[in-house]
Amino acid sequence: MNKPDQFVNNNPLQNLEDWENDLKERYPQTEEESDNKDGYRNYSNGSRQDTVREFYRLNHQYQTYDFVQQKEQEFLQFNKQEMGFWEAVDFLNTLVDDSDPDTDLDQLQHLLQTSEAIRADGHPDWFVLTGFIHDFGKVLCLFGEPQWAVVGDTFPVGCQFSDKIVFPEFFENNPDSKNSEFNSKYGVYSPNCGLDLVKMSWGHDEYLYQMVKDYLPEPALYMIRYHSFYPQHKENAYDHLMSQHDHNMFDWVKKFNPYDLYSKVPTPPNAKELRPYYEDLVAKYLPAKLKF
Ligand SMILES: [Fe+2]
Ligand SMILES: [Fe+2]
Repeated sequence: MNKPDQFVNNNPLQNLEDWENDLKERYPQTEEESDNKDGYRNYSNGSRQDTVREFYRLNHQYQTYDFVQQKEQEFLQFNKQEMGFWEAVDFLNTLVDDSDPDTDLDQLQHLLQTSEAIRADGHPDWFVLTGFIHDFGKVLCLFGEPQWAVVGDTFPVGCQFSDKIVFPEFFENNPDSKNSEFNSKYGVYSPNCGLDLVKMSWGHDEYLYQMVKDYLPEPALYMIRYHSFYPQHKENAYDHLMSQHDHNMFDWVKKFNPYDLYSKVPTPPNAKELRPYYEDLVAKYLPAKLKF
């Protein structure tokens, strides 16, 4: 049985950014922030913590090996919709975060803040583009997918769940944790087999990776595919599955992470002014139509 109970609220987060805000608390950028953990939170006490907890309860219970396989079959045929790049931006932007007291950033603003911070640091153009598109996979929400199957820290399925994953106790309810095929250290994998052979919990990272894998350089693809894999890029919980090549490429994933989590530029990027630059950049690397 891997169908969420119909009476369970599949979307406990008030908005998707609650997950990212929780990450900022878990992984503060500066010592000052860790001393002042609630500094940027304004919710009445407890409510975000409760919804984030409930979100992970669902995520950890339902992200099984079979579930990931089902979602791969459903979404990796890319036969849902074709969109031009800017059409996709507009579509993604209909995912409005309207209840967060901290920010009036829409999805496009988060993407531009990330990519503009990367550009300001003088990184190569494909790195800028990566920042600009890295959360495109969140359109899954607009295809009716529950929050717990779109965002949240990702982790390997098919082997033992690490206790370094946030809220590890919730894996108790995941049937894979009772399945001897999947619950050993290596499960269906072999030592240092390399992450390309490892199935990750399903979400916006893998979906976008599969969509753009033929168009971008390898470091960009690692950043897209593993940017939510906090149990590894922050906790090193899965060294035993990684190849040396993965470790080398994770330098890029780690380089990307601060841009994703902490880039706040003083003046919000002007989407209209920036559009010609991004149009050229997108045209340089991506096809005119993207398949979703
Ligand atoms: Fe993301
Ligand atoms: Fe992001």
